[in-house]
Amino acid sequence: MLDQVTKVHDESRQGEAFAPQMADVQTYSKKFYIESYGCAMNFNDSEIVASILNKEGYGATRNVEEASLILLNTCSIREKAEQTVRKRLTEFRQIKRSTPGLLVGILGCMAERIKGKLLEEEKLVDLVVGPDAYRSLPALIAEAGTGMKSVNVLLSREETYGDISPVRLDNNGVTSFVSIMRGCNNMCTFCVVPFTRGRERSRDAYSVVREAAELFDNGYREVTLLGQNVDSYYWTSSNGEETVTFAQLLEKVALVHPLLRVRFSTSHPKDITDDVLFVMAKYDNICNYIHLPVQSGSNRILQLMNRTYTREWYMKKVDRIREILPDCGLSTDIIAGFCTETEEDHQETMDIMRYVQYELAYMYFYSERPGTLAERRYQDDIPEEIKKKRLAEIVALHRRHSEAGMKKEVGKTFRVLIEGTSKRSQEQLFGRNDQNKVIVFPRENYSKGEYVMVKVESCTAGTLIGKVV
Ligand code: SAH
Ligand code: SF4
Ligand code: F3S
Repeated sequence: MLDQVTKVHDESRQGEAFAPQMADVQTYSKKFYIESYGCAMNFNDSEIVASILNKEGYGATRNVEEASLILLNTCSIREKAEQTVRKRLTEFRQIKRSTPGLLVGILGCMAERIKGKLLEEEKLVDLVVGPDAYRSLPALIAEAGTGMKSVNVLLSREETYGDISPVRLDNNGVTSFVSIMRGCNNMCTFCVVPFTRGRERSRDAYSVVREAAELFDNGYREVTLLGQNVDSYYWTSSNGEETVTFAQLLEKVALVHPLLRVRFSTSHPKDITDDVLFVMAKYDNICNYIHLPVQSGSNRILQLMNRTYTREWYMKKVDRIREILPDCGLSTDIIAGFCTETEEDHQETMDIMRYVQYELAYMYFYSERPGTLAERRYQDDIPEEIKKKRLAEIVALHRRHSEAGMKKEVGKTFRVLIEGTSKRSQEQLFGRNDQNKVIVFPRENYSKGEYVMVKVESCTAGTLIGKVV
């Protein structure tokens, strides 16, 4: 599928059901089944939901047939994401018909976007709960249990779930997400997130550090700090005496332990500061990798998108990153075929890709979203064939860049955090280097959670292959 090309961070994990921890299976009398769609923040939210449900006596199950509660944590970012959820709902309809008392709930961004209408459209949905309303889940479940339809899609200006310890259900025990903020105050005209997730708010810095420290104590060796726009993180203590910027938070988390790797996502090009780059340079355990979505290489389109930077500004930012962090990996998001995009605009996107040579790119064609500024102001006037043709060109160009990027690593030695057994062979382990590249190597006596130095001997399009030295 063209709008789901190479490694799409959102959809690559689409529809994953959480694996239960064994303890859950044994301890809880009631079972819930949850599937998550969309971005990492949504996956992390499902872990918060799991924590809230555990307290209510619900344990997670991977087997939908033994669940008395089915939840879909949904995404609205592109039309296709919503279609996938609708399809899944029709599949659950069968199970619901044959299972008395089974409750089906919709959580997340699509719940927020379509609200109560989902209950009318999807007669077999019992609960609709928006991203800021998960604390009300127990009450809503009780209400739905009496046969009433329950909805809470209120957005909040304060909710960060900062005090809730997420239950890590589907994990490798080595890497984990930690949400540091919610919502987004940018108004990129194509984007539905400000409407589904509400205003930006930052989580208590100390609760972030505490969560990272707990993860480390439990054997985790990497945390990814999450937000739609991490660089605008700004926390003020309740007495107003202390403030913490993203650069300061990053440093606090890096100081948890030198063996805890720290990553973060996503950075908005307009907001990433030198301070952040200097903190990255100062600490070895902060990975030299930045996800810096460009969206388009054309100034006219960037302006229509309300990205608030120009291509020149973006290129200077990339230069600055390379100056301070010479071996920093860069990845991006690109949208092909935004409203009024000409062939010339498209060529400018290709051109900026050549300039940066991204290691990884998530590439999509424009999908108009109801209620966004672009939907209200502009016409979605690029025919689908042209959107797809341009996207295919962008994908092909990116493939050349990423392949070249892989080849240039052959012969080098990297510090790798082992994440687990390779999918291809039990005899091989895999992990990532600082720049987020996957490396596979013979197992020998190593195990996950350990750091090893691996010399790269060859590569495929997406994987480096090497040996521990
Ligand atoms: N907060 C992040 C991105 C969140 S959405 C940021 O600002 O970079 C992830 C990506 O989905 C976006 O970067 C964009 O490339 C893509 N996207 C968002 N809305 C889209 C739409 N309407 N059509 C196609 N792609 C879209
Ligand atoms: Fe959407 Fe823009 Fe906010 Fe990212 S920064 S979530 S693209 S509005
Ligand atoms: Fe999708 Fe919502 Fe994330 S729209 S990308 S799940 S913030």
